[in-house]
Amino acid sequence: MNSPSPGKVQNLHHDQSRLRLDEGALEAAKRSLEKGAVTPSYGPWREDIIQLLNDALATEIVCTLRYKRHYYTAKGLSSPAIAEEFLVHAQEETAHSEQLAERIVQLGGEPDFSPSTLLDRSHADYDESADLQAMIRSNLIAERVAIEAYSQMIALIGDKDSTTRRVLEAILSQEQEHADELSDWLTP
Ligand SMILES: [Fe+2]
Ligand SMILES: [Fe+2]
Repeated sequence: MNSPSPGKVQNLHHDQSRLRLDEGALEAAKRSLEKGAVTPSYGPWREDIIQLLNDALATEIVCTLRYKRHYYTAKGLSSPAIAEEFLVHAQEETAHSEQLAERIVQLGGEPDFSPSTLLDRSHADYDESADLQAMIRSNLIAERVAIEAYSQMIALIGDKDSTTRRVLEAILSQEQEHADELSDWLTP
């Protein structure tokens, strides 16, 4: 009969009913310094989380472009109040994309800013409406898609990566404000 490896002996003594840290993972954290902030507790989820964040990054970039297009179009229609709201949203979507890119790099990933695949990867659509109500409507649709995507991401990530979850929760609450503001502008 084979004698158990030292690692297995440790596991046999591991008491699942107590709140104790995994000492082996703490030791492992002292190694692999090239991984920066990524420690063993990320386990197999790191790449999936980076992929989710990159899709959200593409969405934020498309949303920035759509709001910019709408800002300049609405300004031309002499609708300064709504144009101003589109501009503020464009700036906030840009800030979201920067937060996502920063988190991707912290996780050891590469933020994908490639323009050639942006629309395919984005959850939300670009829009070239010339009419004010059509612009508001398409932005509200995009915000609702973003709210649904971020809500699903937060549920998927759960306690697997609390830093990413907090970033997503902050973005989600701002998307909810955007949707709320747009629905006030929408005429029934
Ligand atoms: Fe956003
Ligand atoms: Fe938004």
